[in-house]
Formats: sequence, structure tokens, C-alpha cells
Amino acid sequence: MKELYTQKIFPVILDHVMQFDSLMDARKKLLSEVAGHVVEIGFGTGLNLPFYGERVLSLTAVDPNQGMNRLAEPRIAQAKFPVTHRQLSAEKMPFDNDSVDAVVSTWTLCSIPDVDAALAEIKRILKPTGTFYLVEHGLSPNRQLAKWQTRLTPVQKVIADGCHLNRDMKKIVEQAGFEWIQCEHFNAHKVPSFFAWMTFGQAKKTLNR
Ligand SMILES: C[S@@+](CC[C@H](N)C(=O)[O-])C[C@H]1O[C@@H](n2cnc3c(N)ncnc32)[C@H](O)[C@@H]1O
Repeated sequence: MKELYTQKIFPVILDHVMQFDSLMDARKKLLSEVAGHVVEIGFGTGLNLPFYGERVLSLTAVDPNQGMNRLAEPRIAQAKFPVTHRQLSAEKMPFDNDSVDAVVSTWTLCSIPDVDAALAEIKRILKPTGTFYLVEHGLSPNRQLAKWQTRLTPVQKVIADGCHLNRDMKKIVEQAGFEWIQCEHFNAHKVPSFFAWMTFGQAKKTLNR
């Protein structure tokens, strides 16, 4: 029953929800400058693909959910660059050290069970000159709202396939050994307040850690 929900029903819901205007605007702003050989973690249904620019040489799409991967296939068929689709978790990726120019994560760090392991993998596979591009929802600076995000996270994890509402994304990324090239926050329009607080930016790995 759980598998039916996570593999068949949830991907269809997610594909719809993740196309809200404010989320699509954030994808566009984040992705136009991405270049080189790219790994996108939590590829979902492939909604980022149209927003990558001409400087992308190849993209490896990583996601463990076969149901998401099925919905992504028609979008992959339309891509302007080669896309390799891998059914994998970001906590352990079979890619070489210092081998990719960019890693992209859009609303995925919330859903990864061991987010620190995934960030360690991102750090490992990124070239020293590489860039980590991310936009993530997370823990609100509004203390009342943050309390509710923590109370509701156990429910959210069940209905949204492991998604946490209360991860402090800026802090998690910094603690994993990244430094920001650019980091901003915004409240997404017309998105329920529990999901609205966004961390948006680009980071590079700190080389001496
Ligand atoms: C909220 S969805 C976001 C999908 C997509 N990035 C987007 O912007 O529309 C979270 C995605 O993370 C994926 N995911 C969950 N656990 C993961 C893991 N351990 N490693 C990589 N991706 C994971 C889910 O299957 C899902 O596709």
C-alpha cells in the first residue's frame, strides 16, 4: 500500500504541486548559469530540464523513486543535452571524486533521510572549482511557525515521502563544509506557509576541510 502511494500516487501529486509559479520562477533564476557536466539530485519528474542553459554539456539525473523516474522520461526525451537517468540515492553516488562541474538540488535536501551523507557525497564529487546550486524550503525564522513545522514534520514525512519541514538549510549546508557564493532567502508566493521559507543560492566546497 505504501509503495502504491509513494511510487504511483505521490509522483503525480508532486508533479502538479512543484509547478506553482513561484517555484518555476525560482528554477529559472537558479539554473540559467549552470554549466559543464552536471549531477542533479532528487531529479523528481524532471521539471528543471527546460531551465538549463546552453552551457550544460551533460546531466546525470539521480533519484531513487521509480515512479518519479517514469514521469520524467518524456521530459528527458525533449532535453537539449545528453541526460543519464540513474535510480540512486544521493547518500551514495558511484561518481569519481572531484569529477563534476555542478550539482543541483531543488527541494530535495528536505527529503533525503541522511542529508549529511548526501552533502558529503556532493562535496566529494564536485571539482574544486565546482558549484552547488540549490533552492530548498526549510525552517522558518518565525519562531511560532518553526514550532509548528517541527510538530507537523512527522505527518509530512508520511504524506510527502520523507519530506522534513524543519531543516535549517543554510546551517546544514554550511556545517557540511560549503561556503556561499550567494545565499538569499524568500517567502514563496501562494505556497502554504509551512513550505514558504526558501534558501536559494550557490555554494562551493571549502577546500581546507
Ligand atoms: C520534493 S521532491 C523535488 C523534486 C524535484 N527536485 C523538483 O524540483 O521538482 C524530492 C525528490 O527527492 C527525491 N529523493 C528522496 N530521497 C532521496 C535520496 N535519498 N536521494 C536522492 N533523491 C531523493 C524524491 O524521490 C523526490 O523526487
